[in-house]
Amino acid sequence: MNTIYEKVDPLDPDEAVMKKAGDIIRSGGLVAFPTETVYGLGGDALDADASAKIYEAKGRPSDNPLIVHIAKFEDIYRITQSVPEEARILAERFWPGPLTMIFKKSAIVPDKTTGGLDTVAVRFPSHPVAQKFIEAAGGYIAAPSANISGRPSPTNGEHVLADMDTRIDMIIDAGPCDIGLESTIIDLSSGPCMMLRPGYVNDRMLSEVIGEVKKDEAVFGNSSAAPKAPGMKYRHYAPRGEMTIVAGSGDRVVSFITDKINQRSEGTKIAVLSCTKNANRYKGADLVFDVGDAANEKLIAQRLYDTLRRCDEENIDIIYSEEFDTPSLGLAIMNRLIKAAGHNIIRV
Ligand code: TXA
Ligand code: MG
Repeated sequence: MNTIYEKVDPLDPDEAVMKKAGDIIRSGGLVAFPTETVYGLGGDALDADASAKIYEAKGRPSDNPLIVHIAKFEDIYRITQSVPEEARILAERFWPGPLTMIFKKSAIVPDKTTGGLDTVAVRFPSHPVAQKFIEAAGGYIAAPSANISGRPSPTNGEHVLADMDTRIDMIIDAGPCDIGLESTIIDLSSGPCMMLRPGYVNDRMLSEVIGEVKKDEAVFGNSSAAPKAPGMKYRHYAPRGEMTIVAGSGDRVVSFITDKINQRSEGTKIAVLSCTKNANRYKGADLVFDVGDAANEKLIAQRLYDTLRRCDEENIDIIYSEEFDTPSLGLAIMNRLIKAAGHNIIRV
């Protein structure tokens, strides 16, 4: 398939491009588009065949449900059975924005879109291009992140092109994503609100609005139960090199990783994900990524997936990462890093 690649102004996208993208969706095709979190791989959420194509293009297991994106709050009512008062309050505060809410689904949402579940995840993104695209396409866009399943999510147009060229009809490139990590997911479909995936909207921000929010133990604790968001059980965001997170006090971490660099076997390429203050201390590593520091944690989130992808481009065999347990985004950043490392953490 020939993939159309269009660059647009993130604040004022070309109307003709938006119309073309909308037409592709209306005729059952797939379009990758920017959001404030990561790029999405969109298809018509109300068309089971389009959802089937999304799973195929990503190589994604079809029991892993898709998020339905809307561009007007009122559009939520057609795809859900009931919207609790809590959801309206949360939408007032966080929509449009990086929060996904799960509800009981209505009959018009195909089982294929929700991976066979009777619930639907809904998100109203704030990115102007996402909103215009969703409107042009008829209002309901099913979209997972636009990466090949298992790879880091795409945070710019080139990442999408690398994974999706020839697999989908069109890519809309509006430059880098502002947040860089996928949306926070909360479940409101039964009982009290529960967080299933951490993101930019953290538990403190949520609890300021609706009081205490429970967290899925399978994701945030040590429970061996299956996560309630099916996607959270897969190895994810993973670079091809073997990755280890080294946690502990600053000097001990630097000396542990430096020893590993010195002991490596001939020809093995090592990269380190470092905070700014340690970045020039890892002598002898093939690549050191200065990922940022706690004072500017937004930068860490923005750079994380690009850094993991660059490890692949540079054919890195072994990756060591420091811990980035920062005040607001730490839970989300560490959730992605731990999955990228396949839960491989060493405390020193
Ligand atoms: O920021 C985001 O949310 C991005 C952009 C494109 O909007 N999308 C995204 O989609 O991250 P995806 O498919 O990569 O991740 C969606 C997650 C998966 O873990 C999936 O299992 C979970 O949401 N999910 C979707 N619908 C669900 C449902 N009805 N119940 C439980 N989990 C659900
Ligand atoms: Mg994803």
